[in-house]
Amino acid sequence: MYEQISHSLLNSILDDLKPEILRQDLRHFYTRLGANFYAIHSLFFTLYGHRDDFKVQMLRLVEIMAKGYIDRSQELEMLDIQREQDHNWFLSQKWVGMALYSNGFAENLRDLENKISYFQELGINMVHIMPILMCPTGKSDGGYAISDFRQVDDRVGDLEDIRRIAKEFRKRDILLVLDIVLNHTSDEHEWAKKAMMGDRNFQDYYYIFENREIPDMYEQNMPEVFPETDPGNFTWNAEMEKWVMTVFHSYQWDLNYSNPRVFIEMLDIILFWANQGVDVLRLDAVAFLWKKIGTSCQNERNAHLILQLMKDCCQVTAPGVLFIAEAIVAPVEVIKYFGEDAIAAKECEIAYNATLMALLWDAVATKNTKLLYQGIKSLPNKLERATWLNYVRCHDDIGLGFDDFDIHAAGYEPRAHRKFLVDYLTGRFDASSSRGLMFMANEATGDARICGSLASLVGLESALETADEHLIGLAINRILLLHAIVLSFGGIPLIYNGDAIAVLNDYSYIDDPSKSNDNRWVHRPKIDWERAELRKKQGTVQYRVFSAMKKLIAIRKEISAFADFNNRELLQIDNENLLCFIRFNHQRPSEKVLVVANFDANPQSLNLESLRNTGFNVYGKFVDLYSGIKPEQSDSHITLQGYEFYWLTET
Ligand code: GLC
Ligand code: GLC
Repeated sequence: MYEQISHSLLNSILDDLKPEILRQDLRHFYTRLGANFYAIHSLFFTLYGHRDDFKVQMLRLVEIMAKGYIDRSQELEMLDIQREQDHNWFLSQKWVGMALYSNGFAENLRDLENKISYFQELGINMVHIMPILMCPTGKSDGGYAISDFRQVDDRVGDLEDIRRIAKEFRKRDILLVLDIVLNHTSDEHEWAKKAMMGDRNFQDYYYIFENREIPDMYEQNMPEVFPETDPGNFTWNAEMEKWVMTVFHSYQWDLNYSNPRVFIEMLDIILFWANQGVDVLRLDAVAFLWKKIGTSCQNERNAHLILQLMKDCCQVTAPGVLFIAEAIVAPVEVIKYFGEDAIAAKECEIAYNATLMALLWDAVATKNTKLLYQGIKSLPNKLERATWLNYVRCHDDIGLGFDDFDIHAAGYEPRAHRKFLVDYLTGRFDASSSRGLMFMANEATGDARICGSLASLVGLESALETADEHLIGLAINRILLLHAIVLSFGGIPLIYNGDAIAVLNDYSYIDDPSKSNDNRWVHRPKIDWERAELRKKQGTVQYRVFSAMKKLIAIRKEISAFADFNNRELLQIDNENLLCFIRFNHQRPSEKVLVVANFDANPQSLNLESLRNTGFNVYGKFVDLYSGIKPEQSDSHITLQGYEFYWLTET
């Protein structure tokens, strides 16, 4: 778009650029800057236009983008151009992700390099290496309390390791995902230290207050993230004798994005990591980026503008790099992190589908898909060029964050229903044998979240203790059922470290004082590679899970109907134990797959009459892509055994 004010500003900024920048060959940079400048300028103006230093900061912003571009290698620039040409590349069904801690999956980054073949063995081609940057010992929040955004923690490796891994991955067509912790720094970050020493410039990087007057106003509407261990959203700092906003742990200081310097510093960091060869940046806790008195300080409009601005700027310098939004918020809110439209107001291309994740656990606990159906139906349609990250477990707790409206619509009372789920998943009912732990129970609100590894949550830990073959089989089937859904739902499936080999809860965190008060560590295991070898030995639990996962992944990659182009149709059926949806190829709708999953322990049947008006032949014959079996069809019904699933096509 051509607009005079921003155009003349751009010209004057280009005139003022530092000579060392001007001397470079910046052709591609200028084209992209020209194309995005109107948006960048408008957003930057909306956020910071009222400040005296607006023009100075705007110039600085352009310089940072130019510097990032100059530092970008030729190889990465080629990749940018390739991805611009094939701009839907990440919607393909060929991507399958895994999230892991480098020192949980392996010893460290170097050792991770030795284990790349494991990804290839399973079929993983997108690897999220959880935070690896410098963090204070004992106050790290699992890597999310960063004291230096450019330095790899020497306990796991160094920058060279990451550069090598990025190269190795690229050779094998594996995407590298790293975190950018945007919302806060550790209280040991240089900026926080300078602030503590009284430097006003750096105090302005955070939310810092002389007394409780303003913090108390904020507190009236702000929920608490870690109420058990870190109640409240502010921490008294004795050095400054001031209050600091600390929404997460008391040692994580919230960055103040109403200060343009903070925005520019963080953009610089984003571009730095983009230039190390990272393909996808996971933007942590994005819902929290803007704070406003009188609100919950989550999902604020300006948080979205900040993300749009980051995307626009990153597109100028490193357009091949994608963003993942980690916003664990209500469905109507999460959808907004994709942006307002696919081109002009884009935010993140990928977002965690926490809604589906929590709904799947609801269906496991209730053996019923009422709420799952309700929740999927309420999930708003995505933009084009946007996709979900579908997962069953991750390094965090499971929040039961469904909409109260949906819980009512499914015929439950919200508070009682959530209590039932917590009780079920923490094994308070004999029948459940689930070994979850309660996380951050909040007596005031009645809320609680759940921790635990996938295998322990679905009853494998307890089944193995009693060596009950039947129960072991059911638990394995639940693991596969849940993965069969995230692998076929539409989006990038993200498998969590250890889940493909059924790793159980790890209780060793209790003996580590730096972890014992955070039971998320129960599901952040260290892989025992000798045990993991059992995946190759027929009959073992590891083999049964791993070989099935491997097969599911391989099949997913072959089925074009599983790519994500808003090509899913939820099928209304008359059996409350089943989940049933159709995936079709968006270019050739006749290529379609019927996904059916039985959440009950007993056999359940699907009435094929439900397929009327779907393009499937009600009297047709079906074959399961996964097992190759043609399920028996009698009386227009197909029966599924307890926890069985099918990926059906017409023969
Ligand atoms: C993210 C991380 C979580 C961390 C939080 C605070 O949500 O996933 O592990 O505790 O941010 O940084
Ligand atoms: C909350 C936050 C999420 C964070 C999690 C940590 O759910 O929304 O960002 O990962 O807490 O437990």
